[in-house]
Amino acid sequence: MNSKVSVIGAGNVGATAAQRLAEKDFCDVVLVDIIEGVPQGKSLDLTQAAPIERHDAHLTGTNDYEATKNSDIVIITAGIARKPGMSRDDLLATNKNIVTKVTKEVARFSPEAILVIVSNPLDAMCHVAYGVSGFSKNKVMGMAGVLDSARFRAFIAMELDVSVENIHAIVLGGHGDAMVPLPRYSTVAGIPITELLSADRIEALVDRTRKGGAEIVNLLKTGSAYYAPASAAAEMAESILKDKKKILPCAAYLEGEYGIHGLFVGVPVKLGARGIEEIIQIKLTAEESCALKKSAAAVQELVDTIKEMK
Ligand code: NAI
Ligand code: 2OP
Repeated sequence: MNSKVSVIGAGNVGATAAQRLAEKDFCDVVLVDIIEGVPQGKSLDLTQAAPIERHDAHLTGTNDYEATKNSDIVIITAGIARKPGMSRDDLLATNKNIVTKVTKEVARFSPEAILVIVSNPLDAMCHVAYGVSGFSKNKVMGMAGVLDSARFRAFIAMELDVSVENIHAIVLGGHGDAMVPLPRYSTVAGIPITELLSADRIEALVDRTRKGGAEIVNLLKTGSAYYAPASAAAEMAESILKDKKKILPCAAYLEGEYGIHGLFVGVPVKLGARGIEEIIQIKLTAEESCALKKSAAAVQELVDTIKEMK
């Protein structure tokens, strides 16, 4: 029997994540949305692509959580997305209610699942899902660092005119304007970019990474990025289901690591069959550590706002 991944929210990110997962051919996919017909139509369309794409993943579209029963992984993308002029934080109240409702249903039908949260504001929505589900901290995580570091990697590759395959990068912190790309730990074929690019060029790439989501929102005008976010969520699911133990930057619940307590923040983690199997603590300079604390403080502010909403 195939593993089962349920994707909640059959919008841009959810449907594209379902496509990525099905085409990787290692799990069955259940696509859920509140709108009748949409998850059914999209999963039927994806099923009809299967003979051409040559995969045997089974896709189900539904408005009923019964079909998600005993999922191994649930990716939560339900919620509203940014429009031009909106920050991720502007989504807070609406998406808090949506993520609360969705998580209750998910936890009821799949009490053993690992949750990958995508809905924004990401780190705050992880808190909501963690609190509502009651799952252990290794089983609740957020997708942002894989996306933000992929953006940084893409910009480095464009700048140096080299293959993206040669590039590794780490972005720490919350999924907001204060995120912390780490040039010292970002490499081209093992060489830190600090040895290949001037400080000014690196700062420009860091700045573009921080504003990577907004750049796409301003171009699309009707919503936010979804191809790269979907790829990022699928990479996390694959590392978990195949027990690959990849080291990926993800939003994880910290209890003292990096000097941060009781907060979801993006850090490098080992992702395997048990979910977050280890939080990797890398040495930071005083400046990097200060930037991470600043980013964590921005997440804390949102979490406090959510508490006040109760
Ligand atoms: P979208 O608007 O295309 O899709 C959202 C879907 O959620 C819609 O189909 C909607 O009907 C559904 N939905 C709303 N309430 C629901 C409920 N109660 N139950 C089930 N489904 C429900 O939006 P898109 O572009 O797919 O983005 C989804 C979320 O992901 C947004 O909050 C966005 O900001 C976030 N996002 C996060 C990223 C990250 O790096 N963490 C990257 C990209 C998007
Ligand atoms: C992004 O970074 C909107 O969070 C989403 O593209």
